[in-house]
Amino acid sequence: MTVPGHIVLIGMMGAGKTTVGSRLARVLDRPFVDSDVQVEQRTARSVREIFETDGEAAYRALEAEALAEALASEEPAVIAAAGGTILDPNNRRRMKDFGTVVFLEARPAALVSRVGGQDHRPLLGDDPAGVLAEMDEVRRHLYEETADFVVDVSSHGPDAVVHEILKLVER
Ligand code: S3P
Repeated sequence: MTVPGHIVLIGMMGAGKTTVGSRLARVLDRPFVDSDVQVEQRTARSVREIFETDGEAAYRALEAEALAEALASEEPAVIAAAGGTILDPNNRRRMKDFGTVVFLEARPAALVSRVGGQDHRPLLGDDPAGVLAEMDEVRRHLYEETADFVVDVSSHGPDAVVHEILKLVER
């Protein structure tokens, strides 16, 4: 099975980009790159620490660099692009230019139970449901316009989502 170019997973926090992406990469025998992990490795700091010390704009710049580097690699990979990457028009353009973009779609209510217990999401604060609903309003159209394909992840487990993505990108 050959799928040319990178496969880039986008979507909100909790949509399953990391879980689905690492499984998809294993099936396709490709490297898996997670933009948050790239930022943490390059800076030797946590996402939370960068947000808290340097602010969101500084984090977004690092995130854009990490994404650009992943997309510039010639070896086709599966790339999980952190939830906020689509806010930057340059990121959106690069994803479309260098990859097949898949939006892992779920309504905010379905994401709330999936975002707990992880430290790299300082924006959620103490009102994850409210923050996710607001983010969805701002971002949904950006995810939709950037995506080549949309996969509903709210009612399917990660393996079913991987299967669906493979069907779509192989066409
Ligand atoms: C963010 C998503 C997070 C992380 C940061 C900001 C966002 O990544 O980059 O907390 O703005 O949506 P995940 O989408 O991998 O959770």
